[in-house]
Amino acid sequence: MPPMNKQTLELRAPAKINLSLEILYKRSDGFHELRTIMQELAWGDLLRFETMPEGRLEFYCDDPSLPAGPENLAWDAASRLQSLYAPDCGARLWLSKKIPVAAGLGGGSSDAATVLKGLNTLWKLNLELAQLQELAAGLGSDVPFFLKGGTALAEGRGEIITPLIPLPSLPVLLIYKAGFALSTPAVYRALCWDRVNQGGKTGRFATLLTQRDRRDCINQTLTTELLSEYMINDLETGAFTLAGELAELKKELQQLDLHVLLSGSGPTFFALHHELDRLLKVKDELSARGYSVICTEFAVPVNNIK
Ligand code: C5P
Repeated sequence: MPPMNKQTLELRAPAKINLSLEILYKRSDGFHELRTIMQELAWGDLLRFETMPEGRLEFYCDDPSLPAGPENLAWDAASRLQSLYAPDCGARLWLSKKIPVAAGLGGGSSDAATVLKGLNTLWKLNLELAQLQELAAGLGSDVPFFLKGGTALAEGRGEIITPLIPLPSLPVLLIYKAGFALSTPAVYRALCWDRVNQGGKTGRFATLLTQRDRRDCINQTLTTELLSEYMINDLETGAFTLAGELAELKKELQQLDLHVLLSGSGPTFFALHHELDRLLKVKDELSARGYSVICTEFAVPVNNIK
């Protein structure tokens, strides 16, 4: 049989952190109305795409603990896109996992969004962002953010995205215990309602990040200090109720002179410091104590605001 003229594509599926996250109230549909500033990172999973004949879909993942079928969000994304817009197109997908699962770093959501973007290109569908966004919102609250990434305000249950002027690239540590996951619904259920912040701080943060003049003139040190004033996560109370050792770890990290916050529903913490050397030293210390520590940075800003 003559070799098929295959098209291939490789895309990074980045992790995210929530620089701030505030809960406004519990909605009648069971979700929580929130306001959060999300930041794309330069580190994440990798997805490889290859065209397949006759609408065949195949999915492979190098992490055997993840479902490699329709229960995987990335597969779900591919099959929803196919059945809506491209029933005759097929693809083989390889997912190389780096982002820990159920860690608050948006790994599954990023994989799903990257599948939508990748297949839109591979299958030459030319779908617009709004069409992809609708599909993404149906897959999960965090999925729409990853279609554009960068720095963005997310509202509603997380699916209403307002792109902000991207922050300059800052070094960041991600700190987690391998194999220790937290269930997002459980963290939401455990949050302390008398300690939620109603979104005012995140609203002011978002306004600040739309002021181009002020943003353009701040250097890395000032940016780190500025961010630390807005770093807040209402879900920490829920995560700390479920796992008391996380509260202890946060205290310890703060004593090391780092700005530390839980990302999303956790259990991963991110830590900022304007000196990369300081972060690398902490990375060595924590790695020696059995923590998994990734040193990465905010994704290099692309000027993608229309
Ligand atoms: O949308 P997603 O599937 O990522 O949400 C997972 C779970 O997290 C939901 O079923 C819900 O329990 C909780 N959640 C919430 N409010 C949000 C987002 C998620 O209660 N805004």
